[in-house]
Amino acid sequence: MTQVSGNPDVPDLGRRQFMNALLLGAASGTVLGALYPIVKYFIPPSSGGAGGGVTAKDALGNDIVLSNFLSEHNVGDRTLAQGLKGDPTYIVVESSDAIASYGINAVCTHLGCVVPWNASENKFICPCHGSQYDSTGKVVRGPAPLSLALVHTGVSDDGKIALTPWTETDFRTGDEPWWA
Ligand code: FES
Repeated sequence: MTQVSGNPDVPDLGRRQFMNALLLGAASGTVLGALYPIVKYFIPPSSGGAGGGVTAKDALGNDIVLSNFLSEHNVGDRTLAQGLKGDPTYIVVESSDAIASYGINAVCTHLGCVVPWNASENKFICPCHGSQYDSTGKVVRGPAPLSLALVHTGVSDDGKIALTPWTETDFRTGDEPWWA
Protein backbone atom coordinates (compact mmCIF):
# COMPACT_ATOMS: atom_id res chain seq x y z
CA MET A 1 0.00 0.00 0.00
CA THR A 2 1.32 3.47 -0.87
CA GLN A 3 1.76 5.81 2.02
CA VAL A 4 0.53 9.21 0.77
CA SER A 5 0.73 11.34 3.82
CA GLY A 6 4.28 12.00 4.78
CA ASN A 7 5.48 11.97 1.16
CA PRO A 8 7.12 15.38 0.74
CA ASP A 9 6.08 15.55 -2.94
CA VAL A 10 2.37 15.21 -2.19
CA PRO A 11 0.81 18.11 -0.36
CA ASP A 12 -1.43 17.04 2.49
CA LEU A 13 -5.14 17.67 2.21
CA GLY A 14 -5.27 21.02 4.01
CA ARG A 15 -2.48 22.46 1.95
CA ARG A 16 -3.90 21.03 -1.25
CA GLN A 17 -7.30 22.58 -0.58
CA PHE A 18 -5.68 25.88 0.15
CA MET A 19 -3.73 25.75 -3.07
CA ASN A 20 -6.85 24.76 -5.01
CA ALA A 21 -8.68 27.72 -3.54
CA LEU A 22 -5.84 30.00 -4.53
CA LEU A 23 -5.71 28.59 -8.02
CA LEU A 24 -9.47 28.86 -8.42
CA GLY A 25 -9.40 32.43 -7.22
CA ALA A 26 -6.59 33.31 -9.58
CA ALA A 27 -8.22 31.49 -12.47
CA SER A 28 -11.66 32.97 -11.97
CA GLY A 29 -10.16 36.42 -11.60
CA THR A 30 -8.26 35.94 -14.81
CA VAL A 31 -11.24 34.48 -16.61
CA LEU A 32 -13.57 37.20 -15.43
CA GLY A 33 -11.02 39.83 -16.36
CA ALA A 34 -10.64 38.31 -19.80
CA LEU A 35 -14.38 37.89 -20.28
CA TYR A 36 -15.33 41.40 -19.27
CA PRO A 37 -14.49 43.10 -22.58
CA ILE A 38 -16.07 40.25 -24.50
CA VAL A 39 -19.26 40.35 -22.49
CA LYS A 40 -19.31 44.11 -22.73
CA TYR A 41 -18.91 43.87 -26.47
CA PHE A 42 -22.00 41.71 -26.81
CA ILE A 43 -24.19 43.95 -24.71
CA PRO A 44 -25.33 46.65 -27.11
CA PRO A 45 -24.97 50.09 -25.54
CA SER A 46 -28.47 50.83 -26.81
CA SER A 47 -30.12 51.54 -30.07
CA GLY A 48 -29.98 54.90 -31.74
CA GLY A 49 -26.30 55.68 -31.41
CA ALA A 50 -24.12 55.97 -34.46
CA GLY A 51 -20.42 56.53 -34.87
CA GLY A 52 -19.51 55.47 -31.34
CA GLY A 53 -22.61 57.03 -29.87
CA VAL A 54 -24.93 55.88 -27.12
CA THR A 55 -28.42 56.65 -25.97
CA ALA A 56 -28.39 58.82 -22.85
CA LYS A 57 -29.76 56.98 -19.83
CA ASP A 58 -31.39 58.24 -16.67
CA ALA A 59 -30.45 57.32 -13.10
CA LEU A 60 -32.44 54.10 -13.36
CA GLY A 61 -30.66 53.08 -16.55
CA ASN A 62 -33.62 53.78 -18.83
CA ASP A 63 -33.19 55.44 -22.21
CA ILE A 64 -34.10 59.12 -22.07
CA VAL A 65 -36.89 60.11 -24.46
CA LEU A 66 -36.47 63.74 -25.51
CA SER A 67 -40.16 64.71 -25.34
CA ASN A 68 -40.47 63.30 -21.81
CA PHE A 69 -37.25 64.95 -20.76
CA LEU A 70 -38.37 68.35 -22.01
CA SER A 71 -41.74 68.06 -20.28
CA GLU A 72 -40.03 67.24 -16.98
CA HIS A 73 -37.34 69.93 -17.01
CA ASN A 74 -37.15 73.68 -17.16
CA VAL A 75 -35.20 75.91 -19.49
CA GLY A 76 -31.67 76.26 -18.15
CA ASP A 77 -31.70 72.95 -16.29
CA ARG A 78 -28.56 70.88 -16.43
CA THR A 79 -29.45 67.29 -15.69
CA LEU A 80 -27.12 64.36 -15.23
CA ALA A 81 -27.46 61.42 -17.57
CA GLN A 82 -25.30 58.41 -18.19
CA GLY A 83 -23.31 59.16 -21.31
CA LEU A 84 -20.40 57.89 -23.37
CA LYS A 85 -18.39 55.20 -21.58
CA GLY A 86 -20.87 55.52 -18.74
CA ASP A 87 -19.59 58.98 -17.84
CA PRO A 88 -22.00 61.27 -16.00
CA THR A 89 -22.99 63.89 -18.57
CA TYR A 90 -25.14 66.98 -18.26
CA ILE A 91 -27.97 67.49 -20.72
CA VAL A 92 -28.78 71.19 -21.04
CA VAL A 93 -32.34 72.38 -21.67
CA GLU A 94 -31.97 75.32 -24.03
CA SER A 95 -35.61 76.17 -24.69
CA SER A 96 -39.03 74.68 -24.03
CA ASP A 97 -38.66 72.47 -27.08
CA ALA A 98 -34.92 71.87 -27.44
CA ILE A 99 -31.83 70.71 -25.63
CA ALA A 100 -28.42 72.21 -26.35
CA SER A 101 -26.45 70.54 -29.14
CA TYR A 102 -23.71 69.76 -26.64
CA GLY A 103 -23.65 67.78 -23.42
CA ILE A 104 -21.12 68.43 -20.65
CA ASN A 105 -19.09 65.64 -19.10
CA ALA A 106 -19.39 66.07 -15.32
CA VAL A 107 -16.02 64.55 -14.41
CA CYS A 108 -13.79 67.25 -12.89
CA THR A 109 -10.55 67.67 -14.83
CA HIS A 110 -8.61 68.04 -11.57
CA LEU A 111 -8.96 64.68 -9.84
CA GLY A 112 -12.17 63.28 -11.24
CA CYS A 113 -14.95 64.19 -8.81
CA VAL A 114 -18.41 64.54 -10.31
CA VAL A 115 -19.09 68.26 -10.42
CA PRO A 116 -22.58 69.40 -9.39
CA TRP A 117 -24.47 72.19 -11.14
CA ASN A 118 -25.11 75.19 -8.92
CA ALA A 119 -28.08 77.01 -10.47
CA SER A 120 -27.97 80.00 -8.13
CA GLU A 121 -24.31 80.65 -8.96
CA ASN A 122 -24.85 79.71 -12.62
CA LYS A 123 -21.72 77.56 -12.42
CA PHE A 124 -20.53 74.04 -11.92
CA ILE A 125 -18.66 74.03 -8.60
CA CYS A 126 -16.54 71.05 -7.63
CA PRO A 127 -17.00 70.08 -3.98
CA CYS A 128 -13.59 68.39 -3.80
CA HIS A 129 -11.15 71.27 -4.23
CA GLY A 130 -13.29 74.18 -5.35
CA SER A 131 -12.74 74.27 -9.09
CA GLN A 132 -15.37 76.21 -10.96
CA TYR A 133 -16.72 75.98 -14.49
CA ASP A 134 -19.13 78.33 -16.22
CA SER A 135 -22.54 77.25 -17.51
CA THR A 136 -20.98 75.67 -20.59
CA GLY A 137 -18.37 73.78 -18.57
CA LYS A 138 -15.49 76.13 -19.38
CA VAL A 139 -13.04 76.25 -16.47
CA VAL A 140 -13.05 79.62 -14.71
CA ARG A 141 -11.21 78.70 -11.52
CA GLY A 142 -8.60 76.09 -10.68
CA PRO A 143 -7.09 73.88 -9.57
CA ALA A 144 -8.82 72.15 -12.49
CA PRO A 145 -6.47 72.63 -15.45
CA LEU A 146 -9.00 72.13 -18.24
CA SER A 147 -12.62 72.69 -19.13
CA LEU A 148 -15.13 69.87 -18.79
CA ALA A 149 -15.23 67.61 -21.84
CA LEU A 150 -18.01 67.97 -24.41
CA VAL A 151 -20.16 65.49 -26.30
CA HIS A 152 -22.61 66.07 -29.13
CA THR A 153 -26.28 65.55 -28.44
CA GLY A 154 -28.87 64.51 -30.98
CA VAL A 155 -32.15 62.65 -31.29
CA SER A 156 -32.45 59.10 -32.54
CA ASP A 157 -35.17 57.92 -34.91
CA ASP A 158 -37.19 56.70 -31.97
CA GLY A 159 -37.05 60.06 -30.21
CA LYS A 160 -34.35 59.30 -27.65
CA ILE A 161 -31.44 61.54 -26.74
CA ALA A 162 -28.30 60.28 -28.46
CA LEU A 163 -24.76 61.24 -27.46
CA THR A 164 -21.78 61.05 -29.80
CA PRO A 165 -18.11 61.95 -29.33
CA TRP A 166 -17.06 65.57 -29.77
CA THR A 167 -13.91 65.60 -31.85
CA GLU A 168 -14.08 69.11 -33.30
CA THR A 169 -12.72 72.38 -31.94
CA ASP A 170 -13.88 73.23 -28.43
CA PHE A 171 -16.25 76.16 -29.10
CA ARG A 172 -15.55 77.60 -25.62
CA THR A 173 -11.81 77.95 -26.04
CA GLY A 174 -11.12 77.65 -29.76
CA ASP A 175 -8.67 74.86 -28.93
CA GLU A 176 -8.52 71.29 -30.10
CA PRO A 177 -10.47 69.08 -27.70
CA TRP A 178 -8.09 67.73 -25.05
CA TRP A 179 -10.31 64.67 -24.53
CA ALA A 180 -10.45 63.47 -28.13
FE1 FES B 1 -12.57 68.86 -8.70
FE2 FES B 1 -10.24 68.63 -7.37
S1 FES B 1 -11.47 67.07 -8.19
S2 FES B 1 -11.36 70.41 -7.84
